[in-house]
Amino acid sequence: MCGIVGYLGPRETVGVLMDGLRRLEYRGYDSAGIAVFHGGKIEVRRARGKLRVLEEAIAGESLEGKVGIGHTRWATHGRPSDDNAHPHKAGSIAVVHNGIIENYLSLKKVLTESGHVFASETDTEVIAHLVDHFLREDFPFEEAVRRALGKIKGSYALAVLCEKEPEKLIGARNESPLVVGLGEGELLIASDTPAVLNYTRDFIFLEDGEMAVLSDGKAEVLDLEGKRIPREPKRVKWNPLMAEKGGYKHFMLKEIMEQPRAITDTIRGRISEDRSEIIFEGLDSDGKMVKAINRIALVACGTSYHAALVGRYLIESLCRIPVEADIGSEFRYRNPLVDEKTLLVTISQSGETADTLAALREARKRGARTLGICNVVESSLSRESDYTIFTYAGPEIGVASTKAFSTQLVILYLLSLFLGKRTGYISHTQMDEFIGELVRLPHLLEEVVRGHKEIERIGRKYVHAENFLYLGRGINYPIALEGALKLKEISYIHAEGYPAGEMKHGPIALIDREMPVVVLATKDDTYEKVMNNIEEVHAREGRIIALASQGDKEIASKVEDVIFIPPTVSLLTPVLLTIPLQLLAYYMADFKGNDVDQPRNLAKSVTVE
Ligand code: M6R
Repeated sequence: MCGIVGYLGPRETVGVLMDGLRRLEYRGYDSAGIAVFHGGKIEVRRARGKLRVLEEAIAGESLEGKVGIGHTRWATHGRPSDDNAHPHKAGSIAVVHNGIIENYLSLKKVLTESGHVFASETDTEVIAHLVDHFLREDFPFEEAVRRALGKIKGSYALAVLCEKEPEKLIGARNESPLVVGLGEGELLIASDTPAVLNYTRDFIFLEDGEMAVLSDGKAEVLDLEGKRIPREPKRVKWNPLMAEKGGYKHFMLKEIMEQPRAITDTIRGRISEDRSEIIFEGLDSDGKMVKAINRIALVACGTSYHAALVGRYLIESLCRIPVEADIGSEFRYRNPLVDEKTLLVTISQSGETADTLAALREARKRGARTLGICNVVESSLSRESDYTIFTYAGPEIGVASTKAFSTQLVILYLLSLFLGKRTGYISHTQMDEFIGELVRLPHLLEEVVRGHKEIERIGRKYVHAENFLYLGRGINYPIALEGALKLKEISYIHAEGYPAGEMKHGPIALIDREMPVVVLATKDDTYEKVMNNIEEVHAREGRIIALASQGDKEIASKVEDVIFIPPTVSLLTPVLLTIPLQLLAYYMADFKGNDVDQPRNLAKSVTVE
């Protein structure tokens, strides 16, 4: 995720900006930049790579000024490069931006036609040009920003500077956080409080659709109509480490809780306005690729492999194309049946997993077309694939994958709809229905996240269990595997995921009072069968924790604990089921006092085979 810092005050501005950017460093980024009002104009310095590269670039320069903005970038639109790094400048405007501008292509087209020349591949640059456009129409800076925001669709946290009004710094927010820090005779802006916690503890937290105008030693908040909104600052009590984690005890918990946002970002800009199309710009643009393939191979490792298993189910259901799902390390050594009629889809959070990359290289050698699903722009996977779809989860710091997994599921759902439309298997009405449910998903996830206290209670109850069984059927079976993996890797409790129908072929022998069994029992085609499995476990005194659909009264009498999730189409249920299982694993690991973010023996990215 990108980071923003802005400063207006008497200190040495570059120092404050660089200090703020350094404090955001733990989240990872691919480029950084600053803009400072110096010698009557805005000077911009940007560099791809670590902050050190930028530091070296500006070392020895005396960029003095009283106002400036800085940014660390986590690329979404446009690869990491000096040109794509923020701040972006247009005329007398400089902008830093977090978020995604959905309508940037149409805005860019109109601006280009009216003579604006673009220097980057980013969506952000349209904001700078739009504000500049209104300035040229003689609107004052504040009004120009307000008018520009009226044209933009999407999410943003912004900080804007203008050469014509050098004593002013403007910020704005929509679906991406931005705070205003009120220091002693100085004002700050930041996407995250830790960036500026050294200078103040008094903050105004902007709401969606609000702007902040910082000048003359004060910060005013206004809405997009220009109406002033009185806003009292709040005093933040977090220490810097707590602040990095957004007030959560661990990054993993923060990352679980931010899934509604991560999924909103992942969906954003990928659905046409009339809801009839999925947009993956440039993918199969000539229509030849989908026509040419006769099978799809999904390859990944660990949690990403569980996403691949869900993907197999989704693609086969929505497109009727034969799909195989394979573990990276297995695929490569089994002389796979792959040729130029195969679409190889690799899935990886990091894009650096050695086994997944080896599978990709093997498939390329055999002539397959390759598509990557990845969270890191410019990773090896994205560079080596014919096409990459990015999950906009933002940096995932906890070793246990959480938001990367749920966003992978969402991409696989979108990809299935994309392919289903092209193969003609999905009707217009179905498309509308599936997209409608997808759009509701972030709200449903918020509901699930709000139920975390009950999951914490259940976690406390079972923390001393030594073994766990997770059961699911159909599209929810991979979620049973994922629930078990999450529990294993952070709580060190032995857990197995199983297809519920396989229970009587062996694992049922394990069931007794000591064996908690997590059963995924949402209302879908497999519900009756899953209820039979619940009876089987119940008869052998197994302790059942069920994940069930809201309103299911029957199940409560048969199981010891129930976690309810809101109903949706069965193809999206895996996303909703995932969050309670992540939380269950998290709370149990935390009760055991484990190092949740860095579990023993595990690395975030497995770059060796
Ligand atoms: O970066 P990748 O998605 O390729 O990583 C794959 C696995 O190493 C990863 O999912 C691992 O299983 C996680 N620790 C799961 O939480």
